[in-house]
Order: sequence, then C-alpha cells, then structure tokens
Amino acid sequence: MCGIIGYTGNRPAAPILIEGLKRLEYRGYDSAGIAVEEGDRIQSVCRTGKIAELERSLPQFHLTGSCGIGHTRWATHGVPSEANAHPHLSCDGSIAIVHNGIIENHAELRRILEERGHTFLSQTDSEVIVHLIEDAYSMLAFEASEDDDLADAEGKRTPHTSTSEMLAGEPSLLAQAVSMACGFLIGSWAICAMVASEPGKIVCARKESPLVIGRAATGVHVASDVSAISDAVSEVAVLADGQIAELDARMFNVFSVAGDVMTRVNPETMKLDRRADVADRGQYADFMIKEIHEQPRVIRDTLEGRFDGGELTISELALTHEELNLIDRVCIIACGTSYHAALVAKNLIEGWARIPCEVEVASEFRYRDPIVTPSTLVVAVSQSGETADTLAAIRDARIKGAKVFGITNVLGSPVARESDGVIYTKANKEVAVASTKSFTGQLVSLTLLAMLLAQSKGRLKQAQMRMLFSELSNTAAQAEEILKDADDVHRAALACKDARSAMFIGRGMGAAVAEEGALKLKEVSYLHAEAYPAGEMKHGPIALIEPGFPLIAVATESPTYEKVLSNIQEAKTRGAMVVAIATEGDERIREHADHVIHIPKVRDAFSPITAIIPLQLLARDIALLRGCNIDQPRNLAKSVTVE
Ligand code: M6R
Repeated sequence: MCGIIGYTGNRPAAPILIEGLKRLEYRGYDSAGIAVEEGDRIQSVCRTGKIAELERSLPQFHLTGSCGIGHTRWATHGVPSEANAHPHLSCDGSIAIVHNGIIENHAELRRILEERGHTFLSQTDSEVIVHLIEDAYSMLAFEASEDDDLADAEGKRTPHTSTSEMLAGEPSLLAQAVSMACGFLIGSWAICAMVASEPGKIVCARKESPLVIGRAATGVHVASDVSAISDAVSEVAVLADGQIAELDARMFNVFSVAGDVMTRVNPETMKLDRRADVADRGQYADFMIKEIHEQPRVIRDTLEGRFDGGELTISELALTHEELNLIDRVCIIACGTSYHAALVAKNLIEGWARIPCEVEVASEFRYRDPIVTPSTLVVAVSQSGETADTLAAIRDARIKGAKVFGITNVLGSPVARESDGVIYTKANKEVAVASTKSFTGQLVSLTLLAMLLAQSKGRLKQAQMRMLFSELSNTAAQAEEILKDADDVHRAALACKDARSAMFIGRGMGAAVAEEGALKLKEVSYLHAEAYPAGEMKHGPIALIEPGFPLIAVATESPTYEKVLSNIQEAKTRGAMVVAIATEGDERIREHADHVIHIPKVRDAFSPITAIIPLQLLARDIALLRGCNIDQPRNLAKSVTVE
C-alpha cells in the first residue's frame, strides 16, 4: 500500500526519491509524487499511474534541491488522481507532507479547518494533517517572534533563542508543530513534513505505521520500508509509536512526546541485511516465477539448524519448557495466504500435539472479543509483518494476557517487534504481490511449531521427531522435482484460460491447499475462483457445474483420497473439466480427470508444501495467457497497512 521516502543531504534529492519510490512499487500504488525544496519554496510534482510517469515529467521542473519527500499512494479516501496524490501542501504552499495510514476523524477536522479558512484541494483524509501543521506552525512562529522581540527589548537575546537556529537537540518549530498536529489526530500515521522556512529539515512522526531513518555519508534518509532506504545506509533507527524525529543533512534526533513536552531519546536501531533485500528477477520473466522457483531454497533455509542433538529447537519462541507445557490452546491469526498456511497448521497442531487450535482471519478476531487467556498461545502469521488487522489482533491478544508469537518474513517489522517471540520465514524479500515462497516459509515454520508443541507435550518421541524432520527436509528436493517440468500444468492452463469461473476442492490438508490455489488464481488472472472442502460440494456448489466447468481437485494420497475421488466423479458426471493434483504413481485418477499433474509421494502432513506448487504455476500460466500483469495485479497491495 502507500509508501514514504525522504532525503536531506548534499546530493540532488529528486533522483534519490525516485529511486526510493521505485523500490516501494512492489507494495502496490496508483499514484505517486515528490516535493523538493527549491530555494525558499517547495516544488511538488504528482502523477497518477506508474513512477516512470512521474520520472518522465520531472525534467521540466528543473529540480535541484537536496531535501525532499516522496510518496506512493494506494487510494482509500478519494479516487486515484493528481489532486489526491501526496505530497499535500499547506494553503500558502510553504509546508508539504506525506502520510501513510488512515485519519479516522478527518471529516470533523476538515470541517473545523475549513471554518478557520483553510482551502482543501483533495478528497483525502491526509490533507487535514498539513493544514493542522500550518495552523500550529504559524502560532508557534508568532509566539517565538514575540519572545525574540521581548528578548531584544530586554537586551537578552542570544543566537540560541533565534527561531532559525535552535539549540542542538531541541525540537525545531516544525517538529513542535507536527507534534501539536498529531495531538488532534485519531487513527494511524507515518508522516514526513517539510517547511520552506526551515531549509534542509524533514520532520517525521509515527503511530502504528512504520518509519525507519538511516544516515549515510551524503545525507540522512527516511522511509516507510527498509527496502526503500538507500544502499548507502547500513543501520536504521526504528521510530516507535508516538515518537517524532527531526532530520537534517548530517544527523537526526528522535523525541518522545508527553503532552507538550518533547524529550530527546535514543531510538531502537537495526542493522540492515541487504542480502535478504535483493529485488532482482535475474533470468526470470517476472518475480512471481522467480519466487516460485526459490521455494526449495526457502524450505532448506527455514529448517537450517533446527534439529540438533535429536531435539527440535525454536529458541526465538522465548518460552521455557514449563511455559510451553502450560499452553492449553493455540489461536492463529492471519489474513489471505498467511491464513491459508494457518489452516494447515491447525491440522498439525491438533493432530500431533493434541492442543485445540483455532484459526481466524485477523479482521474478524480483532472485533469480536475472542476468548484468549494467559495459557493461550496466539500465533500471528504475516509475510509483510505490517498487516494492519493482524497487528491490531496482536495488540488485543497481548492486552488479554496471551503470549504472542509472530511468524513473519520481514526483519524488524511491526509484527516481529510487537510479538513476544518471532520466527523469520527466510523467504527473503518477496516482490510479487501474490505470495508464493513466503507461503512455503510459513508452512515450514508452522510445521516446526506444531512439532515443537508435540515434543514439549511428550506426544512425539525423539525417533518420530527425527523421522518427521527428515521427511520435512526432503520436501525441498521434491519441490525441485516438481519445478523441473511444468508441461502438464501448461496444458491444464490452456484448458482453463477462457473459463469464467473455476472451483477448487480438497479435503483435510487438501482443503487448505485448494483455498490457497483459488486465491492465487483470482489474484493474478482475475478469473473468478472458489474453494470448497470437497465434502461440501453436494450442499450447494455442485449446482455451478456444467459442461466444461473447471474443477481443480487436490487429490494427493491421504486418508480421504477415496472420498475426494468420488467427489471428482460426481462433478465429472455433470460435465466438469477436471484438473487433478495427484501423487506420483496414481494412474487410477486418469479415468476421472481430464488433466493430471503428478507430484512426488509425500506424507499427508507435508503435502501442502509440494501440492501448492503446481497450483501457483497454474495461476501464473493462466494469468499470462489472459494477458495479466503478473507481479502487480490490479487493486492489490503487497502490504495491507490499512484495515
Ligand atoms: O503480509 P501478510 O502475510 O500479512 O499479508 C496478508 C495478505 O494480504 C496476503 O497474504 C495476500 O492475500 C497476498 N496477496 C496473497 O497472495
């Protein structure tokens, strides 16, 4: 979703901002803009569509300033348009802001500000921020000049009390004005602001929406996402909720705020691992196919070092054996693909550890007062680590006294920082909006968690653990095997490409895989797809089956294989065009399916790790045949930072 970038230093800001915005593109956006200080004024340029469009328009503005802010916008309040794109300017054009998040009381604030004479140029919730800062700034500037006059009259004025040269470490007028403005806001925000009268300065504020700041030899950078920060930065400060930061070309200060008192604090810092952040699609046509092919590596990396001396360890869980033993319920919260990984985990946790496990989409969990006690282990799964609903659910669960364990792909992300313990999925940066390799990382991590819980409850003995771990490790080679030959997938894609709708079915593990397969197809090909537990077909969905209707069945070897087979037959009898994912050696299924995609034999518990791969490939193939944008599907964002 929206992204923020800012730079102040000794280099022209515009190219640095554009480079940062390009790195934010993968998050999804529909307009973009930058504002750069040019002498004593601020020049802002906004465009709808791609960053390339914005970049193409820049030469006519001859931007040379070395301090600026930029933004990619994913429309929430107001259509995608130049007027609604950020940065937004104050009425006199002297202040510019960019904002991520949602201002919930924007309508009320807009009414008050309009009554006070402010003119709004956009439909966005964000624009109220710049007008609030404008009011606060003029009030503070007026008070400061009165103080200066008084000091002059008393002959006490020193250079330190000048409004333009604040004491090192004291907040500037802009920082104070931003802080005052935030006091009126309800909602979530990451804000960067500049004012023409304080050249070379950027002020940032945050509540529930991430911002990181890093220093390089040529200036100071700020971004909403570490991957957008210049490569010249090796360590970032992570702004905490409620903090305000002030950047100039050489340094930055961070303040905590209590009422109208701003106190300088040392921020939390984080070293950047650039290897995990490489966004290069190499020889691949798009990131999605590259990321699908990375899955064997993700499995190996996620498992590395986990099973030593006959025991599984997840030290990051930060729970003692005794604490693990006290867990009497597991509750997994997630959204989208991460939710589907959680559905698989429910089967494993209940099956192996015999601990009741609930799985719930975070947007429901957060609003329904769920039963969570100190003996509940809440597991939050999120690739990006910044999904707004998942974060809200984490906060809620912690207030209720539960231990929260995060599973995320992004180092230092809000999910990682707000959880009691965290497993990183080792997928490395995932660029395609449709999650593939991060799903695999989540599946493997959740499988380890289920095994750990079973181990601590004494439900799985050492020999069983060893065998399971070895079979789990083998899925990496099996995934490689699947990826070697995609001809059957391609034939199935050709058969499905002109359909208007498709149905995915499976049972047990296969039901979760079917859900994820249907989501992938919808996301990248815009073909309507539904997933049902196969046993539900007769209760309604079978009415949709007509000759040629694509039915994609996950029919791998499992205790319910025969049941799935009869569900396939029922659909086939009614004319469905059946694509089946089946286990190598299963030739019987050919009698009932039009297309069979075989995958290596694997224990049912691990089958989602391999069975999803042909469905990911199928979704991408169909999308290509339908001429869709593979990596950036319409309307979608990589990080869903608003609810
Ligand atoms: O970053 P998260 O895992 O929290 O994101 C959750 C969903 O937004 C995400 O999985 C979404 O469904 C993907 N586009 C799926 O491909």
